[in-house]
Amino acid sequence: MQNIYSSRPHAAITAIGGYVPQGRRTNFDLEQVCDTSDEWIVKRTGIKERRILEQGLATSDMAVMAIQDLCTRYAKDIADVDAIIVATSTPDVLMPATANIIARKLGLKNVWAFDMNAACSGFLYALDMGASLVETERYKNVLIVGADNISAFVDIHDRSTNILFGDGAGVIWLEPSAEAGVMDAFMQSNGDGREFLNIEGGGSLYPTSQETPDDERRYLRQDGKVVFKQAVQSMSNACKHILDRNQLGIEQVNWLVPHQANKRIIDAVGKEINIQEEKTLTNIAYRGNTIAATIPLCIWENIKLIQKGDLLMLTAFGAGFSWGASLLRWMI
Ligand code: COA
Repeated sequence: MQNIYSSRPHAAITAIGGYVPQGRRTNFDLEQVCDTSDEWIVKRTGIKERRILEQGLATSDMAVMAIQDLCTRYAKDIADVDAIIVATSTPDVLMPATANIIARKLGLKNVWAFDMNAACSGFLYALDMGASLVETERYKNVLIVGADNISAFVDIHDRSTNILFGDGAGVIWLEPSAEAGVMDAFMQSNGDGREFLNIEGGGSLYPTSQETPDDERRYLRQDGKVVFKQAVQSMSNACKHILDRNQLGIEQVNWLVPHQANKRIIDAVGKEINIQEEKTLTNIAYRGNTIAATIPLCIWENIKLIQKGDLLMLTAFGAGFSWGASLLRWMI
């Protein structure tokens, strides 16, 4: 197997943590607020319930819990962290970055901390960026957080979105390694996707104001059919691209970890790249789509299945449109 980055220093994941809030939103809860049914939702999405963060808390609170979980499980000292990249589209506030808020809550005074907004592809984008920082040898210990409090932007009465989304946070710790842990990554985007998946309100174009408290642009909106088709195509192509340029056959991949958007999307990607169903990791049934958190949370919740040395293919798709795939050797 050829690694195209073999001449550079390497980065590897050395710890992982996660957090989901206690609050549950089941399909039966949704039956009470809109014209839907548990049967329809399970059949069309594979989702049974989602976790919902309580009001008064925000994305940074979940991220801090996930980081504390990581430090406890892997005996990591938070004081060693040089940089924190937070993939989120639901920052606590517009300024400062949620990464700064997290650093403050963790007592880190001099850390390089910034946010990355690439919607549901955010974790993969941030992972690639974090690995690159480690590979430069300027940063040794880099935290990559994927966290979203998307329920704050879901219209509870909109059955085309309320069935899909939930809250959560996942985090991984990157550090230098003799062997390549993060082996390859391929990221792309196409701004033509804007009208099909967006939250238009709350930015500088449509700022929230006292005159528009009920502006419906504050909610996530999507054209589900367009997004579905693009997601399958883009994730499949990204995976195939990674396999080809690393001269790998799909049988050499131990685990596919796809963005958890809809079980039918996951199944369609698996079929398209021809991976055995039992090699695809999921947690969508009880988490829904947690935006930037899906991939680290899915690994975290399936961690007992993954062995040291396993080859993982991660793939994501989201607003932008943005998408990508990453290839990992699991080192812990
Ligand atoms: N409950 C019950 N019925 C529903 C429904 C719901 N929540 N949503 C739609 N329907 C109905 C429609 O009215 C339609 O009825 P009709 O045939 O009588 O006209 C039928 O079910 C099919 O609707 P459709 O919109 O074609 O459903 P779908 O199979 O495309 O599923 C989504 C809708 C949203 C679940 C699906 O398109 C999807 O998951 N898309 C991707 C979204 C996504 O992943 N976004 C985030 C990407 S990061």
